Amino acid sequence: MKIVLDIGGSIVASPAPNVPYIKGLAELLIELRREGHRVMVVVGGGRLARDYVAAARELEASEDYCDEVGIGATRMNAMLLIAALGEHAMKALRKNTLGAAKAKKILVMGGTKPRQTTDAVSAQLAWRTHADLLVVATNVDGVYDSDPRVDPKAKKLPRVTPQQLVKLVSTKEYRAGSTAVVDPVAARIIERNRIKTIVLDGRRLENIRAAVSGGEHGGTVVG
Ligand code: UTP
Repeated sequence: MKIVLDIGGSIVASPAPNVPYIKGLAELLIELRREGHRVMVVVGGGRLARDYVAAARELEASEDYCDEVGIGATRMNAMLLIAALGEHAMKALRKNTLGAAKAKKILVMGGTKPRQTTDAVSAQLAWRTHADLLVVATNVDGVYDSDPRVDPKAKKLPRVTPQQLVKLVSTKEYRAGSTAVVDPVAARIIERNRIKTIVLDGRRLENIRAAVSGGEHGGTVVG
């Protein structure tokens, strides 16, 4: 299978880089590659992005500039995963999704351009490479009918249509450093291109493994 993994910065580096997790993730990705899967990973900025975006905003930078700062953070985290993957990863950090389909080794990248998050990069990468599966690994265990981090009555949805997903996330106004389970740009790309997507709790690596092998991942299937 051709798999795009969208890994939240909140998992790999919040507040500080989680080295044991990054090592474990790298081992899983190498194992998937050995099994014959093609793996591409987009890493989020997590706490580093949020802190730096907040500082840039305090310094009265424009929203686009704040986004560039956030992109820098995502790339720092991506570089840590490249370090953990060693010879299994393409050494150079990709700055965009062009030519990704030709990558033989594990491709790792961060953000690409303002006004979106790494979710959108992942969806774009999945679309461009005709991936079989997009796994959105985040710090909540799926898509809820409202934000479970603020609403105690939020209900998890085991399955949503791409249209439902778009509707659920589109109410959020875009702002650099903002959080929704999947960003609205990504949701629209998923919908338009019918990308098979699973949103799951990536803090447990076995969920990611299960999503790839067709097992019980405990997340939300978009489709
Ligand atoms: P993230 O993708 O990390 O966003 O990008 P997030 O929603 O905070 O996700 P988690 O917490 O890592 O799971 C961080 C910030 O970097 C900028 C945006 O400002 C975003 O909020 N960014 C990222 C871009 O502008 N473009 C990109 O392609 C990626």
